[in-house]
Amino acid sequence: MCGIVGYVGNESALDVILSGLKRLEYRGYDSSGVALVNGNMFIEKRVGKISNLEDHLAGKNLGGFHVGIGHTRWATHGVPSDINAHPHTGCHERIAIVHNGIIENYAAIKKMLIDKGHIFSSETDSEVIAHLIEYYIENNSFLDAVLKALAKLEGTYGILAISESEPDTIIAARKGSPLLLGIADDAMILASDASAIIEYTRKVVYLEDGEIIEVKKDKMKTFDLERRRIDKKVEDITWDISDIEKQGFEHFMLKEIFEQPETIQNAYRGRIVIDEGLVRLDGITLSRQDINDVRRVILIACGTSFHAALVGEYLIEEFARIPVEVEYASEFRYRRPILLRGDLIVVISQSGETADTLAALREARDRGANVVGITNVVGSTIARECNAGGVYLHAGPEIGVASTKAFTSQIVVLYLLGIFLARRKGMTADEAGALLRELTKIPDKVQWILDRADAVKEVAELYKDTANCLYLGRGINFPVALEGALKLKEISYVHAEGYPAAEMKHGPIALIDENMPAVFAAPFWDEVYAKVVHNMQEVKARSGKIICIATEGDQEILKHADHVLRIPNIGKMLSPLLSVIPLQLLSYYVAVLRGCNVDQPRNLAKSVTVE
Ligand code: F6R
Repeated sequence: MCGIVGYVGNESALDVILSGLKRLEYRGYDSSGVALVNGNMFIEKRVGKISNLEDHLAGKNLGGFHVGIGHTRWATHGVPSDINAHPHTGCHERIAIVHNGIIENYAAIKKMLIDKGHIFSSETDSEVIAHLIEYYIENNSFLDAVLKALAKLEGTYGILAISESEPDTIIAARKGSPLLLGIADDAMILASDASAIIEYTRKVVYLEDGEIIEVKKDKMKTFDLERRRIDKKVEDITWDISDIEKQGFEHFMLKEIFEQPETIQNAYRGRIVIDEGLVRLDGITLSRQDINDVRRVILIACGTSFHAALVGEYLIEEFARIPVEVEYASEFRYRRPILLRGDLIVVISQSGETADTLAALREARDRGANVVGITNVVGSTIARECNAGGVYLHAGPEIGVASTKAFTSQIVVLYLLGIFLARRKGMTADEAGALLRELTKIPDKVQWILDRADAVKEVAELYKDTANCLYLGRGINFPVALEGALKLKEISYVHAEGYPAAEMKHGPIALIDENMPAVFAAPFWDEVYAKVVHNMQEVKARSGKIICIATEGDQEILKHADHVLRIPNIGKMLSPLLSVIPLQLLSYYVAVLRGCNVDQPRNLAKSVTVE
């Protein structure tokens, strides 16, 4: 995720900002930049590592600047590049801003400002903030100009702004993206993350959503968005650096599991209009006619992304009634696939760099197919090479090698894609609106499960020494069983297999005895539920132990399962977004209890760029 640092004091602002940005490197970034102000504005920004930025700053005498802002960017709108890096300015370099978050209505604001003569230089959503402040500062103080600009913004932000007109001031505002102010002797340091300031002070003020703060080197004033003064409490930081980087979580994987209420929301934020039953996937560049002509969808991916594709098969077929095939990228590329007119190829890759998926993309594209990408990393090779555009997950960097939050974001995007295609095939606005409304309930329901993570830990304690584990599910929860098994084997090295529950009797049932736990995903009541219960009885009859992911309120399940992990009630099509969460937690806790290196399991790499 992007990082922010700002400094007002007596020291060289550049030195403090660069050291703060380096503290934020662990979050992942693709470019960085600084803006410094006294009577003039100085700006430098570069794609790549902070060391690249430093190389371009070397030899410039900047020690006389005592106020400035800096940023590490993780691209969301526009590829990683010098121009798209922050800080951004208006038409003139008199205002500079850095921004974390997503401005949902930036396209409308940009158009309004272009009509007024503003000239934009980047592809980012963030640049509109600088132009808006520039627009309003003509007739207002710096603070009022920022307040007026904020009133126009929809979406999320953590913003720092500086202006040549008030060179001793930084203005910061927060809505949905963290910001805090560190109070040091004769200096104030603003940052998106406490690790950037802890070297200088442990006294902090945490900004809340809807707050704006005007900071000078020896004073600060906080307001709400109506310009009413707010008193803020100064708090002490009690943790050390390593705690902060993982935000108090023991591992990145756990942090990423717990981020899912937010990352799921980020995947649909700004893309849906519930009342109109509308899904906007503006990154897909296909013409209306091309979309109307889609007769078959082929989803291509590897590993966890492949499991998300399997869920996508159910979603797209159910919503759009278009046939879907799901292919391992590594198989697709070598079997001379038959591609037909009306085929839409969708490649899915968290990293956007997986060699097998990239090769499959090229194979399909070179045969004349339309290829859309679903990736997390903006400007990645897969994102760049898709000839029909794509959809970004906006999940933020995934650092744990085992993919968790990217999986749920991929499912959300596939859910949106299913509705997007279905609207062209006759789904009504009301039907689509109802499906989208259900989707917006998911973040709270995921939080509900996470709040009960201790129950999963207790089960993990009981089964940490198992050598084998079977994962079973049916219908749309069959891919969840595959994903649960993959998670367990990759981080805890326990042998695990995922099967459609009914397949068990065709072979795997031979493995069942008192030492073989079976994990069932059976999260809803319907005809398949009854059949899954029947499969549980088959396990029980052979002394197997049963762990079941079941819906809240389902009492029947207690008769069959040895351990029940609850998820909230949800319709079938969204249930994988909930049923996978306890399975992610289960694999995590088992791995920790077995003493495994959770974030960097043996033999695995985060992005598999070799065949
Ligand atoms: C599993 C995992 C891998 C990846 C696979 C594809 O936790 O992370 O199975 O899902 O290597 O990677 P991407 O999605 O980056 O193409």
